[in-house]
Amino acid sequence: MRIILIGPPGAGKGTQSQRLVELLGVPHLSTGEMLRAEARAGTPAGIEAAKAMARGQLVPDPMIVAMVSRRLAEPDCREGCLLDGFPRTLPQAETLDDLLERRAISVDGVIELAVPRDELVRRMLARKRADDDPAVFEERIASFEKQTAPLLDYYARQGKLASIAGLGTADEIFERVKAAIERFRARRR
Ligand code: AP5
Ligand code: MG
Repeated sequence: MRIILIGPPGAGKGTQSQRLVELLGVPHLSTGEMLRAEARAGTPAGIEAAKAMARGQLVPDPMIVAMVSRRLAEPDCREGCLLDGFPRTLPQAETLDDLLERRAISVDGVIELAVPRDELVRRMLARKRADDDPAVFEERIASFEKQTAPLLDYYARQGKLASIAGLGTADEIFERVKAAIERFRARRR
């Protein structure tokens, strides 16, 4: 299966991904993790990306699209993948659809993790990632609302969106995620 997780910063995409990749048996593709690895490696793309990330802004589409298309072409992605944090803009979503369509496959479902802002801020303050500074976090939330939230409508119109309440324990939320996966599976049959 090919599943996309969408949610604001701190919504629990990474937390639910860990559980979901085990259930689905597909690789976990987190563009945030991939970019942090590039930045650590000190590649020119990584250094460029790190600047945007430190400001809470999105990394330019061409860099992201190149990185994800390379990864999707690897053999372990043949049977499916879990996309965490990609796509994040309409051009990214359209490029992904084109890319998959050329291989006669498509996204099976999109899960939105909806979490109120005050809870996101609480989670961010309890963690210590470099971009978890309060001012940067505000920018990350703003980037989500402006550039990524429109994707919810894009996938709803394709009939692929499942919106899930992301409040509660991680295990409680995973039960809702599993129910959404079951609905996606039923639709494929
Ligand atoms: P990315 O790494 O994707 O970060 P993010 O979207 O800001 O989200 P987080 O990873 O912070 O949160 P999450 O939703 O994974 O939640 P988590 O499970 O960690 O992106 C970073 C940057 O890279 C972006 O700002 C951008 O610059 C760039 N980038 C990435 N992809 C891009 C793209 N496609 N295009 C352009 N730029 C891109 O949980 C958060 C915390 O809450 C954790 O401490 C966790 O333990 C805790 N928690 C989780 N679940 C619960 C729960 N149920 N109850 C209480 N606490 C919980
Ligand atoms: Mg994450």
